[in-house]
Amino acid sequence: MSNRLMRLRASRHLRNLCAETEFTRAQLIQPLFIVEGLEHDEPITGLRGTARQNIPSALRQIERDLENGVTQFLLFPVPGEKKLNQFNHHFSQQAISAIRRQFGDDLCLWVDTCLCSSTTHGHCAVLDDARINLDATLNELAQAALAFAEAGADGISPSDMMDGRVARIRTRLDEGGFELTPVMSYSTKFASQFYGPFRQAADSAPQFGDRRHYQIDVRHRTDALACSERCAEEGADLLMVKPGLTSLDLIRPIHERTGRAVGAYQVSGEYAGLALLAEQGLTNFDAALRETWHVFKRAGAQYIITYGARYARQLGI
Ligand code: PBG
Repeated sequence: MSNRLMRLRASRHLRNLCAETEFTRAQLIQPLFIVEGLEHDEPITGLRGTARQNIPSALRQIERDLENGVTQFLLFPVPGEKKLNQFNHHFSQQAISAIRRQFGDDLCLWVDTCLCSSTTHGHCAVLDDARINLDATLNELAQAALAFAEAGADGISPSDMMDGRVARIRTRLDEGGFELTPVMSYSTKFASQFYGPFRQAADSAPQFGDRRHYQIDVRHRTDALACSERCAEEGADLLMVKPGLTSLDLIRPIHERTGRAVGAYQVSGEYAGLALLAEQGLTNFDAALRETWHVFKRAGAQYIITYGARYARQLGI
C-alpha cells in the first residue's frame, strides 16, 4: 500500500518529527485563589493541586511554582466580607502588593476583575433590585482595575461580560498613568455548566437566577465572535475563549478577525473532569492533561489558563 499514513506513527521519533504543536511553560497561566480570613488551606473539590489559600500560604505556593518554571499567574482575590453594592479593594490590593514585594519581576501577575466574589448576590454586576445597573457596574470594574494596577498587577483580566467594560477599564487605566498595563479580556465567555468547582472556590455562585443574561448562549456563534471583536476594538490586548474545550472551533476565527492572540481557559469543570476520571481509575491524569493542552494549541490558542500549569514540568513541558 503506497499511501500508508500509519508509517509515520510507528515510532516515537517519527511522531516527534511530525508533531506540529509545541508550546512552553511560558504560555501556561496558573490560577490562584487568595481568600481573606482563612486559617488553613482549603482544598477545592475536583481541582487537584489547587486550594483556597491565605496570603502567606499563597506566597509559599508561588515560590514552589516559580521553582517549577511557572511564571504566569491569574489571581482571584476573594474578600471575606460581602456587601450589596459597595466595593472595597483593600484585601485584593494587600494580596497583590505582597506578591509584588516578594517576587518583583520574576513573575507576571494577572488579576481577575469581576464583582461576583464581592457581592452578596453573587452576580457580576451592580444590581438595582434584580436589574443590572450597567453604568455603575462599569464604574466599579474600572475602579477595581485601577486599584489592582496601583497595587502592582501586571495585567487586568475582566471576566464579567458587561457591555463596554474593556473601554471603560482602558480609559481609567490610561488616566491613572497605566498606559502600558495590558488587558487580557475574557472576551468570548459562555454561560456554562463547567464553572462549578470555581464558584465554590471563589464563593461566587449567583444567589438567584443565573448568568445567562450576560454570558453568551452556546448556540449563538455570531454573538460569540462579536464579543471578542468588540473587546479588540475597545482595546483588549489579549483575547480568550472560555470554557476552552467547548470553544475550540472559535479560536482561529477570532484570531483571524481581530489579529489578536487568543487564549483558552481550561475551566474548573473541564480540569476537574480529568481529575475525577483519574480518581476512578478511568484515565491517566498526566497524559489526559497533556492531550487537552495540545488540542488547545492545535486549535490555535496562543496561551492556556489551566489549574494544571504547576504540573507542566512533571509532564515534560
Ligand atoms: C467570575 C469568573 C468565573 C470564572 C472565572 N471568573 C465564574 C463565572 O463566571 O461564573 C470561571 C473559571 C473556572 O470555572 O475555572 N466571573
